[in-house]
Amino acid sequence: MNRLILKLTFILVVVFLSSCGGDSDPGYEFMPNMYRSPSLETYGENTINGMNAQLPVEGTIARGHLLTFNYDGTLDGYLAAGNTAVNLIEDNKETRAEGKALYGMFCEHCHGATGTGDGTIKHAIYSAVPHYNDGKLFRRAGVPMNELKAGHIFHAITYGLNAMGPHASQVTEEERWLIVNYVQQELQN
Ligand code: HEC
Repeated sequence: MNRLILKLTFILVVVFLSSCGGDSDPGYEFMPNMYRSPSLETYGENTINGMNAQLPVEGTIARGHLLTFNYDGTLDGYLAAGNTAVNLIEDNKETRAEGKALYGMFCEHCHGATGTGDGTIKHAIYSAVPHYNDGKLFRRAGVPMNELKAGHIFHAITYGLNAMGPHASQVTEEERWLIVNYVQQELQN
């Protein structure tokens, strides 16, 4: 009987001890690399292909980058746009109709159907919506509204001006040029 107790005690002690290991011992791992991948810093280097942060693939276009208009939102950018930006949209019946539709959706509620600044938004904060065909009131370009160039108008749509918010997230580059064409052809004169 005593021998049996001795044997059982011995087995228990062996089982008990064999279950002990270091706190951080994870036991058997089938694919250790899956659990502990090498930790690479974003802008560090590695031995496989050099830098960790790779250059974007060729032809990548940065968000917000425009192909036909690269002027910043400053007054200098505005003046430069007026001098050098070119509207590549061909003026014809279709493009004018498209510009008119876009103007109706994005500008008319403030600037009015005929561009006189009498849209349906009557809040005092927008009281100074300028008349597109105003030949007297000089704007920041040093010319009145009816002499604003395509680049000025594109700039105003893209970056806004005071109470007029930027419309860059609402109208694409091409749509902006369509609106510019419509404003210049139909409302500025
Ligand atoms: C929320 C009302 C509102 C909307 C919408 C709006 N505008 Fe304006 N816009 C204004 C106001 C107000 C001004 C005058 C800002 C100032 O002089 O401080 C202005 C000014 C302008 C100017 C003159 C900028 C300059 O350089 O002097 C142009 C051009 C213009 N808007 C075009 C547009 C076009 C095109 C759209 C549609 C894509 C549009 N706006 C949408 C309110 C609006």
